[in-house]
Amino acid sequence: MRIIVAITGSSGVVYGVRLLEECKKLGIQTELIISKAAETLLKLELGKSAADLKKLATKSHSPDDMMATIASGSYKVDGMAVVPCSMKTIGAIANGIADNLITRAADVTLKQERRLVLVPRETPLNAIHLENMLKLKRAGAVILPAMPAFYHGPKEISDMIDFVVGRILEMFGVEHKLYRKWGE
Ligand SMILES: Cc1cc2nc3c(=O)[nH]c(=O)nc-3n(C[C@H](O)[C@H](O)[C@H](O)COP(=O)(O)O)c2cc1C
Repeated sequence: MRIIVAITGSSGVVYGVRLLEECKKLGIQTELIISKAAETLLKLELGKSAADLKKLATKSHSPDDMMATIASGSYKVDGMAVVPCSMKTIGAIANGIADNLITRAADVTLKQERRLVLVPRETPLNAIHLENMLKLKRAGAVILPAMPAFYHGPKEISDMIDFVVGRILEMFGVEHKLYRKWGE
């Protein structure tokens, strides 16, 4: 399995990092794109650089590289996850503004009818955010907000992060042991 993982400049970049770590562990190939704003958040929230994250991915691409393989629908991938997904990137994808490699790859994922998982993190949400997300849902995307649950008894922040990452993997049909599922 091969998925595109994009990290954008929303709070919660740790979700994207954990997804990359888990994909590596599970043998899932990843094609990574980190936006400029995400680089700022990586430094601020985790003290990490783009170079640190590139080590976790199979391949990585500049968000400015519109000539990259993943900008074309003819390049075979199983889907794409944008984790976390800023409201700016949500707005661009919802309106077909494919002006960088992240929004172009997301546009391609939708047109090829592949799995597109968007993980927004913003609160509260304004009417534009909500309308854009509804538009994306109707276009075939999965809107999977970074909303940890509490019924599985999280003890650490990492348990809450892993719950969200587990939910993302489930959308690609991937089995995992990131949290105790209801009934287990
Ligand atoms: C410290 C900080 C935290 C931010 N948190 C969020 C957030 O949680 N959600 C969001 O939609 N945007 C957030 N932003 C704004 C985005 O970084 C900004 O809209 C940026 O243009 C997004 O660009 P990108 O989607 O290309 O990464 C934050 C910005 C900063 C500086």
